[in-house]
Amino acid sequence: KIMVVDKFLPKKYTEKVTRGKVQHRAPSNIALVKYWGKKDFQLPANPSLSFTLTNSYTDTSVEFLPRTDFNASFQIDFYFEENPKEAFLTKIETFFNRMRLYMPFLRDYHFVVRSHNSFPHSSGIASSASAMAALAVCLMKIEKLFCPEMTDEFFYEKASFLARLGSGSACRSIIGSVVVWGEHPEIPNSSDLYGVPFGMTHEVFHRYQDTILLIDKGQKQISSTDGHDLMNNHPYANQRFVQATENISKLNTILRVGALDDFVKLIESEALTLHSMMMTSNPYFVLMRPNTLATIEQIWNFRRQTQIPVGFTLDAGANIHLLYPYQYKSEVQLLIESNLKNFCDNQQIIEDEVPLESANFYPKF
Ligand code: DP6
Repeated sequence: KIMVVDKFLPKKYTEKVTRGKVQHRAPSNIALVKYWGKKDFQLPANPSLSFTLTNSYTDTSVEFLPRTDFNASFQIDFYFEENPKEAFLTKIETFFNRMRLYMPFLRDYHFVVRSHNSFPHSSGIASSASAMAALAVCLMKIEKLFCPEMTDEFFYEKASFLARLGSGSACRSIIGSVVVWGEHPEIPNSSDLYGVPFGMTHEVFHRYQDTILLIDKGQKQISSTDGHDLMNNHPYANQRFVQATENISKLNTILRVGALDDFVKLIESEALTLHSMMMTSNPYFVLMRPNTLATIEQIWNFRRQTQIPVGFTLDAGANIHLLYPYQYKSEVQLLIESNLKNFCDNQQIIEDEVPLESANFYPKF
């Protein structure tokens, strides 16, 4: 049974537009407090918080034309990196189906979607967040052509609401440098339905660095969606959901006061807890690789020797996100070049950072 959210049902379209083209660049994001487990349909079992990235993004354009083929539910052509991509088209159709109640015009046009990622496709970097976010914003730009009086606030909330229907983490890739998704008593306006910007952090977190160490670029043995399902009937699930809520409270303080040592402890604990949930589900599975652990040891050694607050997080894979303040960039870069790179697949890394929070809360598209 699907819950209907009246607020995002379409308003009366005042303008008639027969064809056009929109585009959007959506960033990837890395969760610090993890979303792992769902309730109902695409709602999070616990609130999560992420850093937005700068260099890892998806560029998407959507052209809409009068529909010519009425055989299927939708008429969509999809090109990924210039080539038609059947597997992705199926995902987009599923996404359109979930959105169509909120965007009836999806049935009325022929859509040509073109998508490009800034990061290598088979790098083990999750692309669903930036891809679904970019597509959701493109469709909102089209809806805005039909109702130009739409407010910016509504635009962003509905874009995030729709992105979530495509992939939960995608709702954190719409607006803000630090984003919270999921209701939390200490985060104003937080919602299970969409992500909200966390707001200003302490300056030690500005331009926070994320070097992604590509430990293993192989295909994942299990999708995130299947992993979430295993949190149903998981023996430790409830305690984990309580802990995530507490960790958002702690992080709320840490991010505002700039407590770097507490930050490192919290994010590493979150990462290891996520993987513990995987190792204790039924069936159990392990996504870390030997080089993931070898790298973690090197990070801990370096931290002990230098007192530099560098820490890691993991997503649902073997890769390591090395997180550290901008201030220590040169020291950590030396560690990466002389040591950590050797544990990476083909020595590959991606250098990324958190963008500065926009002074304008709702930047104009
Ligand atoms: C481990 O957002 O990919 O990266 O909603 O089923 O598409 P679906 O799952 P997805 O899950 C992300 C899981 C995670 C943690 C996180 O990003 O919070």
